[in-house]
Amino acid sequence: MRGRPEGVTRTLPDPHPRDSADSADSADPATRGSGLGARGLGLGTPDSELEEELLGKIRIAIVGVGNCASSLLQGLAYYRGKRPGGAVGLMHWDLAGYAPHDIEVSAAFDIDVRKVGKDVSEAIFEAPNCTTVFADSVPKAGVRVRMGRILDGFSAHLEDYPESRRFLLSDQREATRDEVVAALRESRTDVLVNYLPVGSERAARFYAECALEARVAMVNCMPVFLASDSAFAARFEEKGIPIIGDDIKAQLGATITHRMLTDLFRKRGVKLERTYQLNTGGNTDFLNMLNRSRLASKKVSKTEAVQSVAGERLRDEDIHIGPSDYVPWQNDNKVCFLRMEGSLFGDVPMHLELRLSVEDSPNSAGVAVDAIRCAKLALDRGLAGPVAAPSAYFMKHPPHQLCDDEAYAQTEAYIRGEPVPDAEEA
Ligand SMILES: NC(=O)c1ccc[n+]([C@@H]2O[C@H](COP(=O)([O-])OP(=O)(O)OC[C@H]3O[C@@H](n4cnc5c(N)ncnc54)[C@H](O)[C@@H]3O)[C@@H](O)[C@H]2O)c1
Repeated sequence: MRGRPEGVTRTLPDPHPRDSADSADSADPATRGSGLGARGLGLGTPDSELEEELLGKIRIAIVGVGNCASSLLQGLAYYRGKRPGGAVGLMHWDLAGYAPHDIEVSAAFDIDVRKVGKDVSEAIFEAPNCTTVFADSVPKAGVRVRMGRILDGFSAHLEDYPESRRFLLSDQREATRDEVVAALRESRTDVLVNYLPVGSERAARFYAECALEARVAMVNCMPVFLASDSAFAARFEEKGIPIIGDDIKAQLGATITHRMLTDLFRKRGVKLERTYQLNTGGNTDFLNMLNRSRLASKKVSKTEAVQSVAGERLRDEDIHIGPSDYVPWQNDNKVCFLRMEGSLFGDVPMHLELRLSVEDSPNSAGVAVDAIRCAKLALDRGLAGPVAAPSAYFMKHPPHQLCDDEAYAQTEAYIRGEPVPDAEEA
């Protein structure tokens, strides 16, 4: 992560700090961005009324209006109606001056006929999305879902399943790169949030290229390696654009639980000898992952997340982690079956079995809401390239793995605006 090269700093003072006493539901604008600046539009001087209106907001473009996007957008509406003390389910209400509802959707792209053309607040409730509805209502965003670029976002095996369960391609003309770039620029997007299906290698790179050209930050929630690919990360650094990635680590999901237990074995001197993590679910993410040829990077991401905190790396045949089956009636409920076998004092064997049941998409949104705000802080502070600490804490496959305690401490320091090691030094 590097400071933005001279001449392209986006930091602007906030001429309209909101009074936090008037608005108990709002984070303190005086400390927004840790006092290091308010908002960078990257589009010239904030002389228009529109730009003034956008100050203090975080404008996100969503790529893939699926279940994760649904939970995130529902969450923005849900927390708008809460007060800081009574808000359950957040790691931070006030993240360096940004509250959850300072995030707003500026643009959205999808390829499904039931979503393209609709206001994003309606599209999130269209099939095949099947996650829990927890927000009473989601106000109209005034943002229509645009037709994106299909590339490898759609896997042929989906056609064997009922339309209500799978993606259904729109016949609208696909967007060109120039159109996506123009949409990002015109919508004053700060951060592109990538929610494409697993295995969308070409599509993920296409949208990442658009982000680079439009000069917007990126939060990469899925396992195509961008932040953790040194060549791609260097492109973000050269362009002066921050990125947080790759592959979101859910709030209390299989990965963080498996990692914490692996770390516990290490700290308590128990040798971890064999482990598996089997996962089942009934959403399109699980349906898509039935195509094993799309899974290579997901498997690396999930397996490395655990291997990297083990006292000693396990042999490949002694660790099995991955999505295991698609069970339609589970919908967005994900069940993880975890087993760890080890040896404790006197080389005496022990084993642990755990079953975790979670709603998959709110579990990711609880982390995305902080990752997006950390990406915006990076913009405010003129940082470029992979943002090391939040990537390590929020993502399964960051450029540099840290144990979760260390990643947590560094992320909190980052949020406070204290110096934290660069990715290369972490
Ligand atoms: N739920 C979690 O906890 C979690 C954790 C880590 C990673 N992820 C990853 O996040 C991603 C999103 O998950 P989800 O559950 O929202 O998936 P989803 O299947 O519900 O949504 C994917 C969306 O992308 C759209 N899409 C497909 N190709 C596209 C293209 N080329 N351009 C634009 N849109 C396209 C689909 O129509 C769909 O709306 C997945 O890769 C998943 O593995 C989720």
